[in-house]
Amino acid sequence: MHLPVLQKEVIRYLEPKSNENFIDATFGEGGHGLKILEVIKPQGKLLGIEIDPELYEITKKRLEQENPRIFERLILVNDSYLNLPKIIEEYQFRPVHGVLFDLGMSLWHIKESKRGFSFQRDEPLDMRFNPQANRLTAFEIVNYWEKEKIEKILREFGEERFAKKIAENIEETRRIKPIRTTFDLIKIIQESIPSAVQRKLKIHPATRTFQAFRIAVNRELSTLEETLSFLPKILDKGAKIVVISFHSLEDRIVKKKFLEAKEKGLLKILTKKPVVPAKEEIILNPSSRSAKLRAAQII
Ligand SMILES: C[S@@+](CC[C@H](N)C(=O)[O-])C[C@H]1O[C@@H](n2cnc3c(N)ncnc32)[C@H](O)[C@@H]1O
Repeated sequence: MHLPVLQKEVIRYLEPKSNENFIDATFGEGGHGLKILEVIKPQGKLLGIEIDPELYEITKKRLEQENPRIFERLILVNDSYLNLPKIIEEYQFRPVHGVLFDLGMSLWHIKESKRGFSFQRDEPLDMRFNPQANRLTAFEIVNYWEKEKIEKILREFGEERFAKKIAENIEETRRIKPIRTTFDLIKIIQESIPSAVQRKLKIHPATRTFQAFRIAVNRELSTLEETLSFLPKILDKGAKIVVISFHSLEDRIVKKKFLEAKEKGLLKILTKKPVVPAKEEIILNPSSRSAKLRAAQII
């Protein structure tokens, strides 16, 4: 199961208390959400939002089997956090004492989804969090988008140094036959980055390209930016916002949006610098190494 990242720090900054209400905007497998529910008992409620319909169903079934009474205090919704205003209205979920965003994908996406999120598995190039609502797949981008547009995505969403070469090689390969799977794509990436550079990399050479396509497919950055723009206006005074990001593009947006809201007098920033996991957590859970937490409070 997904190990919740920076769990102690999430609780420290959200400061949940008995009978308060919280929103977990990225519920996933429920690691953080269930901890918050435990702290806000006996009456406090949690609104958990998860965009992925399959993961939502699996998590809901698992929780129903483990403890059906949990749904007396947990409202699980399959939607995007971009629709938070509508969801809050629909469930009359007020007052809200805090909102948590734990961005990116779950371990389930990598290990179980079969949608091409992992470069360790040969799977179709899909990468959609919500295949029911989103028609844009990684296959579509890789096989049909203009070379220049692919290069731009790799540069902007992957900060990939070899964006131009990878885009050129994608175009050359797809002229002969479609690029269908993750391994087809990885082969192209490996041929585009000089082997001397690859040997020095601390990450898999496909990491940046995969990140870029996943962000593009799910419009992750614009969704985050838009949500952090309206959120301070719809939350009650005193409510906390905690965001855990996993790469500099997300963290830059969180920093910028918190500063903008601070300048408008909407919130105060609780973390001068982003909070990062302790060494012990990184040893226990290496995928936490790039996590950064920022927190703010509505004033
Ligand atoms: C890092 S995981 C969260 C893990 C979770 N906090 C836990 O401890 O189990 C991020 C989750 O957010 C979901 N997600 C991504 N974008 C979303 C969006 N716009 N709205 C709601 N959920 C989203 C992903 O499907 C994924 O399951």
